[in-house]
Amino acid sequence: MTKKVVTLAHYYCQPEIQQMADKVGDSLELSLYAKECGADTIVFAGVRFMAETAKILNPQAEVILPDSRSTCSLVTQTDVNALKAWREAHPDHVHVSYINSSAEHKALSDWIVTSRNVDDIIAHIYAEGKQVIFSPDRNMGAYLNFQYDYGMPLWSAVCEVHDKFNQSALDEAFASVQGAKYLIAHPESPLPVLQQADYVGSTSGMLNWVKSYAAEPDAVIFVATEDGILYNMGLARPDLDIRQAPIYAGCQCNSCPYMKMNTIEAVKRAQAGEGVRIDYLSDAQMEAARQPIERMLEFSK
Ligand code: 13P
Ligand code: SF4
Repeated sequence: MTKKVVTLAHYYCQPEIQQMADKVGDSLELSLYAKECGADTIVFAGVRFMAETAKILNPQAEVILPDSRSTCSLVTQTDVNALKAWREAHPDHVHVSYINSSAEHKALSDWIVTSRNVDDIIAHIYAEGKQVIFSPDRNMGAYLNFQYDYGMPLWSAVCEVHDKFNQSALDEAFASVQGAKYLIAHPESPLPVLQQADYVGSTSGMLNWVKSYAAEPDAVIFVATEDGILYNMGLARPDLDIRQAPIYAGCQCNSCPYMKMNTIEAVKRAQAGEGVRIDYLSDAQMEAARQPIERMLEFSK
């Protein structure tokens, strides 16, 4: 019997890679799809923590990452032993971790969240009268503290891509670009950028904002996130003037090097069975990491 091979691609992959995929989505959508797609093999055109999450949720499937170097700065900036000590220093707190984290990191967490459900999950935990520590994304945590006044202790890692957006480049763009009107941003961006934004949300959230936007003639919409999503936004709303937010004057490029390692050749090789097999996690590690992920999926149903 032929094996069912399913290819997943994150919105940050190049258009050609998205076109090769059976499913394109944000972290939450791809995790759910990986769990329920019934594949024998999952080729994950994304980054390693996403492929690990797919394996944890669907351990029967063989999960292949096209390029071994596809990591994420939120993972590489987090020393898991230091994280363990930080968690132990807050014994009365619930540890909420962003999905952009290693399997080992997830295993040290009470809840996993994505940028789509983080607000609701943390509100739910506070509504139960509990305190939260949040890792690893400092910018996302700072925005939650700013919005809801939680005062959560934060781990201090950043996305090396989103952390480059800055207020002065945006001020300059809004002053110099005719029709500049809106800013939508991913919560991995720095707090001053998020405070300026008309909408803050996940990749899917930003895409939905663009889809439902009631067009004003000649309005320019700046998007503070990785450049791959501009392809999906352009497909959804070719009538709009949507531009990447600048990271310095005149530069409208902000690309995740790890997502872009998913080249056509690498994805084709992975579909043929080559690439990095996510087969190095023990059953115990996967079980420990699965519990906080499943808690999130159950909540987000
Ligand atoms: P989403 O959860 O919004 O897809 O974001 C994932 C990511 O890596 C953002 O940098
Ligand atoms: Fe990680 Fe940032 Fe790349 Fe997303 S864009 S995968 S957070 S480095």
